[in-house]
Amino acid sequence: MTARNSVPLRGRDAELARIKRRLQEVAAGVGAVIVIEGRAGLGKTRLLEECAALAAEMSFRVGQGTEEPGRSVVELEALLNALFGGDKPLLTRTSLHNLQVSAEQTFWLLQDIQSLIEGAALKDRLAICLDDLQWAGPRCAMAMGQLPYRLASLPVAWILAFRPNQGIQPVLEAKNGLLDAGAEYISLGPLDTPAVAEIAEDILGAPPDSDLLEKATGVHGSPFLLTEFFRGLQDEGLVATTTGQATLVTDRMPQRIIDSVHGRLSRMSPAAKHLATLAASLGRRFTVRDLADMSGTAVSELVEPIQELMDADIFKESDDRLAFGHDLIREGAAASSPTAVRRALDRQAVDVLIARGALPVEVAVQLVDSAEVGDDTAIAILLQAADDLGVTDPGMAAELATRTLDLAPDGHLLRGPLVAARVTSLFAAGLGEEGKRFADSALRSALAPKEEARVRLSVPVCSIFPPRSGPTKPEPR
Ligand SMILES: Nc1ncnc2c1ncn2[C@@H]1O[C@H](COP(=O)(O)OP(=O)(O)OP(=O)(O)O)[C@@H](O)[C@H]1O
Ligand SMILES: [Mg+2]
Repeated sequence: MTARNSVPLRGRDAELARIKRRLQEVAAGVGAVIVIEGRAGLGKTRLLEECAALAAEMSFRVGQGTEEPGRSVVELEALLNALFGGDKPLLTRTSLHNLQVSAEQTFWLLQDIQSLIEGAALKDRLAICLDDLQWAGPRCAMAMGQLPYRLASLPVAWILAFRPNQGIQPVLEAKNGLLDAGAEYISLGPLDTPAVAEIAEDILGAPPDSDLLEKATGVHGSPFLLTEFFRGLQDEGLVATTTGQATLVTDRMPQRIIDSVHGRLSRMSPAAKHLATLAASLGRRFTVRDLADMSGTAVSELVEPIQELMDADIFKESDDRLAFGHDLIREGAAASSPTAVRRALDRQAVDVLIARGALPVEVAVQLVDSAEVGDDTAIAILLQAADDLGVTDPGMAAELATRTLDLAPDGHLLRGPLVAARVTSLFAAGLGEEGKRFADSALRSALAPKEEARVRLSVPVCSIFPPRSGPTKPEPR
């Protein structure tokens, strides 16, 4: 968030009071979980920042971390950043020997993390704030499903923010488990009219008259769009404050809100607009090198358009990377291209991400959504991703294998391994019956008789042993 975005927090007094009560309980010596839910732009990140500030005032040591869309299937990124990142990390990174553990070792990694948090919580009360958990992967779901319970007798506050009804099943289950176990549930709705009036005054410097306030209610209480709306009015000279009230001087809605991101992008240089369009396929955070690879341009050519995008608050700096100023901006930039173009760009972005070392599971969702039938590279990467996910998230592995089968035409070399991957994953997910039915109906039509026999032989083995690790192994298991 830029300083320009920092209007005071409005309309969330009731929520803050509930959060404060929970933090007071934690200060008295027990653990607590606070779940904050709200749609895009309703103020989750902002409220988390307020929670962090409040906790710091109450002598908590505070750690903050954020999940990234499509990047965290195997990582514990938000949690590790919250524990080990920032100016004053809660824990020292050297105290944990190896963060890059395999999926099977996650249990032990979480044990180690638990002991370290215990040690820290015996000395100080802690607040661990995790944002955008709708993008968390299975490991983070596992952490959420274990650590708050195991640390319940120590002064640790977990403040967790989600968009509602998004995310993989394990994350939804972990969240529901925490709520069932008594987590404080804060659901962020639209801001009410008095809060809208306060934000208008904060930005415009005078209270809005009734006409302006009525117009602002068209923004449906979204703090993101409200701040855009009032700033648009001010920047475009559409409001006067000479009478002591903020009054519309014309009936025109600000351009900024009419076409929000479209408008902002359309006012940029072609190079900047083009770059924003490409970046939208790379995700929320990306490097200058990624952008150069996507655009086929030298890094030096990108300096000016990147600066232009940063001046317009479309890009911002995020540690050593670039990021979109807000997810709505990224979504708007993505929506500014026709679907077919977007799909091709999403597909190209996967190649760029893989070339710079992204794991198959990290790009799998984007890849399966963007690949065309017969895309051999995509099919091989997706098979690898389904294999990698086989143990930690067999449900997702089965889903990936199913969708990848749609990409592999009859007779494709990898149909056999894909069918086996789906059957294996269904068994591992406890859906043996469905696995058998699928094997019966799909194997014969999908494979040559020889290949079919090989896969059938693997089925009982699949139900006993974890899946294999090599995706493109030509030989039967
Ligand atoms: N209660 C509030 N009072 C004033 N400004 C607010 C309030 N809530 C949010 N804002 C401002 O509105 C903008 C959007 O808020 P924020 O980024 O927190 O939304 P979000 O729910 O995290 O969205 P997303 O789901 O896209 O991450 C920010 O500029 C923020 O500072
Ligand atoms: Mg947010």
